[in-house]
Amino acid sequence: MSDNFVSLQKLSLAYGQTLVVPHLDLDIRKGELIALLGPSGCGKTTTMRAIAGLMAPQSGHILIDAQDVTRIPANKRGIGLVFQSYALFPHLSAFENVAFGLRLKKLTNSDITKRVDRWLETVGLAHLAKRKPDDMSGGQQQRLALARSLVLEPKVLLLDEPLSNLDARLRLDMRLELQRVQLETGITMVFVTHDQAEALALANRIVLMKDGKIEQLGAPDELYNAPQTRFAADFLGFQNIFEVEDQTIVGKGNALPLSFQTKARYLAWRPGAVTLEKGKYEGKIKSVSFAGEQREFVIEAPIGQIKATTPAANLPRQIGEIIRFDLPSEGVCELRE
Ligand SMILES: Nc1ncnc2c1ncn2[C@@H]1O[C@H](COP(=O)(O)OP(=O)(O)O)[C@@H](O)[C@H]1O
Ligand SMILES: [Mg+2]
Repeated sequence: MSDNFVSLQKLSLAYGQTLVVPHLDLDIRKGELIALLGPSGCGKTTTMRAIAGLMAPQSGHILIDAQDVTRIPANKRGIGLVFQSYALFPHLSAFENVAFGLRLKKLTNSDITKRVDRWLETVGLAHLAKRKPDDMSGGQQQRLALARSLVLEPKVLLLDEPLSNLDARLRLDMRLELQRVQLETGITMVFVTHDQAEALALANRIVLMKDGKIEQLGAPDELYNAPQTRFAADFLGFQNIFEVEDQTIVGKGNALPLSFQTKARYLAWRPGAVTLEKGKYEGKIKSVSFAGEQREFVIEAPIGQIKATTPAANLPRQIGEIIRFDLPSEGVCELRE
């Protein structure tokens, strides 16, 4: 038996005549935290809505826990939802917000109290049980929304950009919180974000999407270190991406001969992979900035700007000076279109 817990099979999703997700195959493992990553409009929310049962696919199937749920209504799929807007009940206390779903299920009061208390505890809100959402911080509201979903013990929790309304500091705290809750509960989570750092930090695997299709799927370090396409490299923050023509790297109407053979359409180097102070190319230093353990350079080269870093202990250099550099085969990333 496979360990696939959520399976999207040949899924196609459309709004009226507009096909948004043409043909999606995706297997999500039990207990996994998978991130759907991609630019705005690439179909992340649409995919989530289909998994949740909030929109019917044009064709294809959705399996959850070995059951075909394609035609099963949203409220019977055992799915929890946490969205960007928390949609908490403002007139109810934190306790009652979490208890709401359990009351609908007609649980006894003592069962409800036990479960609500446990989840408020888990998300660190036990001391605010009587407080109303409006008197809570953004982070507390988001944790409350999480508890409200988790108390129903969903098979799968879908989180659609749940952290994007929080400030940077809180976002980091919430990331840790989410990871902890996920580890503790073992609930399968699908997390949507357009923030690559968030996906890299949180996910067991990342599904990078473009125009409703999977561009690349892999563990965070795979995507970060070995993007396969120009789009993936760009989205994962590679800075030196150049086109290759006839064994030269081209840019700005200029070409630099490569020092190695490649069949790739594009090549990319992270700043740390660019060699400085030696090599066959030269450029003018446009900026140097000190960044703790390293110095960050922007070099104006014939093919365009090169970002590079050296250990801060190296001899300082001045803006406007000419510097030699190399774009070596070591650390290069070979990309296709
Ligand atoms: N209710 C809708 N009706 C028509 N088009 C929609 C609707 N919702 C989203 N879309 C379109 O579908 C595409 C994918 O949207 P969405 O899944 O929300 O993207 P994401 O969540 O990745 O930003 C976009 O082009 C968007 O404009
Ligand atoms: Mg969205």
